[in-house]
Amino acid sequence: MCGIVGYIGNKEASPILVDGLKKLEYRGYDSAGIAVLNGDFLIYKQPGKVINLEESIDERVKGLSMGIAHTRWATHGEPTEQNAHPHKSNNGEIVIVHNGIIENYKFLKDELIKHGYTFIGQTDTEVLVNYIQFVQEKNHLNIEDALKKTLQGINGAYALAVMDKKEPNKMVVTRKGSPLAIGVTETNEEFYVASDAIPIVEHTQSLVYLNDDEVVVLERGKKLKITDIYGVQKPYRVKNIDLNLNKVSKGKYEHYMLKEIFEQPETIKNTLYSHLNTENTNINFENLDVLKDKLIKANRIIIVSCGTSWHAGIVGEYIIEELARIPVEVEYASEFRYRNPIITEGDIVMAISQSGETADTLAALRYSKSKGATTFCICNVFGSSMARECDFTAYTYAGSEVGVASTKAFTAQVAVVSLLAIQLGVERNTISQEKASALVEEIKTLPLEVNKIFSTNEHIKSIAKNYTQTTSFLFLGRGINFPIALEGALKLKEISYIHAEGYPAAEMKHGPIAMIEESLPTVIVATNNEYYDKLVSNAQEIKARKGPILAVINEDDSDMIHVADFVFKVPRVSDMLQPIVSVIPLQLFSYHVAVFKGCNVDQPRNLAKSVTVE
Ligand code: F6R
Repeated sequence: MCGIVGYIGNKEASPILVDGLKKLEYRGYDSAGIAVLNGDFLIYKQPGKVINLEESIDERVKGLSMGIAHTRWATHGEPTEQNAHPHKSNNGEIVIVHNGIIENYKFLKDELIKHGYTFIGQTDTEVLVNYIQFVQEKNHLNIEDALKKTLQGINGAYALAVMDKKEPNKMVVTRKGSPLAIGVTETNEEFYVASDAIPIVEHTQSLVYLNDDEVVVLERGKKLKITDIYGVQKPYRVKNIDLNLNKVSKGKYEHYMLKEIFEQPETIKNTLYSHLNTENTNINFENLDVLKDKLIKANRIIIVSCGTSWHAGIVGEYIIEELARIPVEVEYASEFRYRNPIITEGDIVMAISQSGETADTLAALRYSKSKGATTFCICNVFGSSMARECDFTAYTYAGSEVGVASTKAFTAQVAVVSLLAIQLGVERNTISQEKASALVEEIKTLPLEVNKIFSTNEHIKSIAKNYTQTTSFLFLGRGINFPIALEGALKLKEISYIHAEGYPAAEMKHGPIAMIEESLPTVIVATNNEYYDKLVSNAQEIKARKGPILAVINEDDSDMIHVADFVFKVPRVSDMLQPIVSVIPLQLFSYHVAVFKGCNVDQPRNLAKSVTVE
């Protein structure tokens, strides 16, 4: 995780760096720091948010036009000033910022200690910068070659920006496993470096995305020079990125999360219409043709993802199996590749990821590809590592999601997976064209249906107020509502720090029912599907044990409304489309509980938006 930024050019570096860090804070916000070069390095570091760093920067940075910066999500060592990046080598000549993890840092550190090196903090990055010094001095190398030689002995993931005060007109950057983009300009007088495109595009829209093990030297007035870590020259492509940055602001909302929840009618619509034909009558995944045959004939689809995206995967499992009759398995990406899974050439491995950078998901995809599977991803970030590496990408058009808790990306993912299931169903003759057309027509009404739920926001807020002292929640659902129960529980715990557990409703009696008592509320996702009566019975079992009940129900509900203490009403849509509407009140409920509790909803503690470490 962590975000890194770099600038070398003719403008003052520090405002560009600090502004870039603010845009990358979603990747971590435990501490922040910058280093600018003025003969010697000026380094500023602060624990906590970028704003603390910004306040500590003084006049001395004026006119300095090269620097690197970092916002941290702590892996090795507490989020103290000492452990904040940039880190400086023992001789004071090299500084680096790092996103990732150096796995063999302990071995390297022991070796450095034997050679008299000392350390002020606990980070793997401090070891790395000293190892670069060690290699440089031992082999009499310039910074570029010292870095390359060092990387040949490094295990782990990294995006790095490095400066050496002996070579004051040069910045060297590299990546492996962690993302890194470089913004270039026509004159080559300026270069921008960042963990993603967002901090760069307001300066230049011409971007070069680095591949693993590529090392780039940035020098004012010179074209990019890219080689691999063994010095072999690498070609590169400059991409034009068109990101609408107007949308990356809170607008009239108090938090990004709330804004993103309310954006869903628009983001679902954008996503849907981007995958329909020009008449908006049929599904049309652009460029899918080459893969269509493989998808139609797939033995099975394995969905790999993490967190909220994993929940979208489970919704996908229900819909794809129902409509296209292809067996689907949904795997935690982090477990998948480490258990020697059986993957055959007829398998499609589908990653679902908002960021397209989640380390575990990316690793699972790469593993699957190496085993001969066809890879597919549903992803929200253009040009992300997954999008670049997969055989096919179906984008969600949710726009930048800044709130750490995923909301609009989830509904967009479910929208894409639904369209895919319908298209596969038609191609495989498992559903009729009439049924497909009817579903497409209904999907087109979803933005409107979601919009209707917002009129109940004040009601949801008034219910949320009752739960600021609650310490634990149970969430239940059945069938396609089961992943929505999981998602409701995840949303609540990650932003309000209230323990919450999602469970299939029928499993309750196999254990969790023992926990039911007056102080444990249960949220039941009970929209009217074929399990409705059974869910009402489950609710009765909870009531009989004095457990309070909150229920997500359809507007025309008949029974659950009489059992539940509080209800959240949502419009009735077809079963398989219900997740997109049922999740909305749960997102709002979590949001309001967290705000009442005074939690930082956009940046919950210990979390980061993009998990680029294993
Ligand atoms: C929860 C949340 C996370 C992400 C997970 C995967 O609200 O945002 O659980 O869903 O880290 O991230 P992506 O989708 O970027 O792969």
